[in-house]
Amino acid sequence: MKKITYISICIGVLIIIIVSLFYCEPSEEYEVSFSHDIQPIFNTKCMDCHGAGGSANLDLSSYSSMMSGENENSPILIPYQADQSLLYEKVSQQSPSIGDRMPFGRDPLISSDIKLIGDWVDQGAKDN
Ligand code: HEC
Repeated sequence: MKKITYISICIGVLIIIIVSLFYCEPSEEYEVSFSHDIQPIFNTKCMDCHGAGGSANLDLSSYSSMMSGENENSPILIPYQADQSLLYEKVSQQSPSIGDRMPFGRDPLISSDIKLIGDWVDQGAKDN
């Protein structure tokens, strides 16, 4: 009887330790928001050419226009696969497989913005 009590106390303590470890884990990776993080980058850095009816085919003025697939190199992104996505490739690579680095003819995006775009695609390219 004593032994059983001892074992159940041990199990109880163990459960408490496991549960508290679980709760103390650093919170999940920051979820990138399209409306708060990505669209503002597009608005300031891309919209001169990628607005509705802009000189470049792809319309980055909203999530739906970007995803509409009406540009020549659709799809420009594959959810959860930034490294397979033209959108990410063209802002992160010096010599992308199609055309030039974006923003076209201008300074590259700062690395934190490039990372946000990559993380957003890797998190599923959600309309969030
Ligand atoms: C100065 C004008 C200009 C700016 C600013 C610009 N682009 Fe572009 N973009 C173009 C042109 C022109 C093309 C077509 C030629 C090419 O792909 O290099 C293009 C093509 C693209 C493509 C390929 C789409 C397709 O169907 O071919 C993507 C993706 C893209 N741009 C993303 C961006 C992003 C993201 C930004 C902002 C960070 C941006 N661009 C800023 C002019 C621009």
